[in-house]
Amino acid sequence: MFFQPVLFAISLPWTFSHPILSVPELLKRQDIDTTVLQFALTLEHLENVFYQQGLKNFSQQQFTDFGLDANDIQNLQLIAQDEAQHVQFLTDAITAAGSQPVAECTYSFPSTDVASFLTLSTVLEGVGTSAYLGGAPLLGNKDFLTAAGSILVTEALHTSLQRAVVGAVPAANAFGTPLSATAVFTLAASFIVSCPDSNEPLPFTPFASLSTSEQQGCDSSSSQNNQVNMTASASSTSTPAFAASTATASNPQCSHKNTTASTTQSSQSTAPYTNSTIAVAASCGALSAGAPVAFTAASAIPSGSFVTFVSGLMVVSMMGQVDDVSISATIPPSISGQSYVFVTSSDAQGKIDDAAVLFGPAILEVSLSHPDPSS
Ligand SMILES: *[C@@H]1O[C@H](CO)[C@@H](O)[C@H](O)[C@H]1NC(C)=O
Ligand SMILES: *[C@@H]1O[C@H](CO)[C@@H](O)[C@H](O)[C@H]1NC(C)=O
Ligand SMILES: *[C@@H]1O[C@H](CO)[C@@H](O)[C@H](O)[C@H]1NC(C)=O
Ligand SMILES: *[C@@H]1O[C@H](CO)[C@@H](O)[C@H](O)[C@H]1NC(C)=O
Repeated sequence: MFFQPVLFAISLPWTFSHPILSVPELLKRQDIDTTVLQFALTLEHLENVFYQQGLKNFSQQQFTDFGLDANDIQNLQLIAQDEAQHVQFLTDAITAAGSQPVAECTYSFPSTDVASFLTLSTVLEGVGTSAYLGGAPLLGNKDFLTAAGSILVTEALHTSLQRAVVGAVPAANAFGTPLSATAVFTLAASFIVSCPDSNEPLPFTPFASLSTSEQQGCDSSSSQNNQVNMTASASSTSTPAFAASTATASNPQCSHKNTTASTTQSSQSTAPYTNSTIAVAASCGALSAGAPVAFTAASAIPSGSFVTFVSGLMVVSMMGQVDDVSISATIPPSISGQSYVFVTSSDAQGKIDDAAVLFGPAILEVSLSHPDPSS
């Protein structure tokens, strides 16, 4: 099945109704397990609304026209139902633990057509899976750990189903990729416009943004031409300020058509905001290990910075070639599937610390090398 390359560039405010509490402050008041569950519920709300909207926005016929068969469409409906059940499950668990579960927020998704909706679903399911994996070690209660693991399994199955539907390799890495809560929060925040005042604030501050700066390695002969590029600017203050989103698809090498959508909601404030960026090049032909790849950061990158690739259980830093806000490096071996890229201040071989992160994560889809049947 064909998949149209889709590029998004969105700018959204991330508005907190409370100032952000530091982790120690928050932990004084709250059991960490509850915080992790609240964070999980925040992500499940996001996914739940995403699928509810998508199934409302696009007709059965549009999915069929894109190339989905009856099974694919039923799977999509089942995924939506699963996300609603995850929301209910976590809501009940947090209530049982004596806290008030966070409520649904207002979101802005940069999906404008079936292609971008399905591509974004692969990204969100992948991030969701990485969030549960990265959050698991934080949980003290083994019963919660099993419950979280149980949701993780389902998120990973969703990832696989949706990747298959858009023509990507369903399981492109032998290992899942754990992400820190701050990394996940940075990605999630770019879709959140505002949350109810009653929501307990989460103790995370997003990282500064990083995006893939070019579409390297596109190959028009590939049937896996997915490209998603979302650049979001997120307000980290409580002042609702700025919401503009544009989604464009253009790819000189592998685009069949362009999709462009642009909305501007408001821009009445100069409140400071940080930009968080998601850039995905989902198998635009041949982004693979050994290829050079360049990224653009929200501000000047210190020379001597590293480009750190996180994929499966691999964390590999490459010395970056820095030019002001740009940095480039070669994709190291063993990076495949939906991978995450950070600019770090130090060589983070094997383990990435939030404290070393200067920018990121950008999301990078790296094609895996197929096993050679003759060997
Ligand atoms: C659904 O359509 C609405 C209205 O156009 C749009 O704001 C929203 O982002 C869309 N959601 C998804 C998931 O495509
Ligand atoms: C992503 O969008 C940004 C902002 O429009 C742009 O500068 C960048 O080149 C894009 N990246 C890709 C991979 O297209
Ligand atoms: C797609 O967009 C690019 C950049 O805006 C433009 O150069 C190109 O002509 C467009 N292609 C089509 C098929 O409209
Ligand atoms: C964030 O993006 C906006 C719009 O693209 C830009 O004007 C602003 O300078 C960026 N801010 C930061 C902190 O990078």
